[in-house]
Amino acid sequence: MIFFDDIQQKTIPAHIAIIMDGNGRWAQRQGKDRIYGHQQGVETVRKTIEACVDIGVKYLSLYAFSTENWNRDPDEVSALMELFMYFYYTETDNLHKNNICVKAIGNLDMLSDDCRNGMQNLIDKTKNNTALTVVIALSYGSRWEITHAAKQFASDINNKVIDINTIDETIFASYLQTNQLNIPDPDLLIRTSNEYRISNFLLWQIAYAELYFTDVLWPDFNKDELLKAIHDYQGRTRRFGKTNEQLIK
Ligand code: IPE
Ligand code: IPE
Ligand code: MG
Repeated sequence: MIFFDDIQQKTIPAHIAIIMDGNGRWAQRQGKDRIYGHQQGVETVRKTIEACVDIGVKYLSLYAFSTENWNRDPDEVSALMELFMYFYYTETDNLHKNNICVKAIGNLDMLSDDCRNGMQNLIDKTKNNTALTVVIALSYGSRWEITHAAKQFASDINNKVIDINTIDETIFASYLQTNQLNIPDPDLLIRTSNEYRISNFLLWQIAYAELYFTDVLWPDFNKDELLKAIHDYQGRTRRFGKTNEQLIK
């Protein structure tokens, strides 16, 4: 077991992104329906936010619903949407009281008015908070985000807002939702439930994130598991293309 004291304060990842997977399997293992797993998943979200504040993480991005998840059974999709709304209505005051700022990325036009308004209220209310920024990825797909950015980018070139000869990575990245919301790239990406893929999450932004996979299903994830992931991250060497010798200099 990893304890808080085993974590080096100086190298706590500033931004942790999580692919919260395994709710359905968790429920099925106990003979319950998938929705029950999602409800427990919301409890894990609450606890994970608290843990990040305690540990001193500054950004936590949570993959809550992907563009591909719209293809699930309509009953599951509407139950998930209800759960998101329940989360906004029950958690807004609590998150605000705890000085937590909430932001959202994704194709929010796809959400119902109620769902979007609940989220907007939470975002507006918490916008000046500073303890932790929670980024909720809802109706999010990285390919959608990049395509959307490319469209705006092309339009700005057409309208001569930017000159094609000055384009570089930084200018293109400035069109991504994350950059527009001043969210730095993740340092650590965690995926639960023993799946070893990215499923269209933050493809551009994780270019140099450290990846951590665990077989724990999302409803069973907790502060100990988070500390384990951070401890593992702290044992890595982030070279960003350089050699170890260069890093020592
Ligand atoms: C993750 O759990 C939550 C969402 C994708 C909304 P799943 O619902 O994917 O659970 P599994 O992968 O089927 O166990
Ligand atoms: C990824 O989980 C999306 C979220 C956690 C919101 P999925 O369960 O949808 O991913 P795949 O389909 O197994 O790749
Ligand atoms: Mg899944």
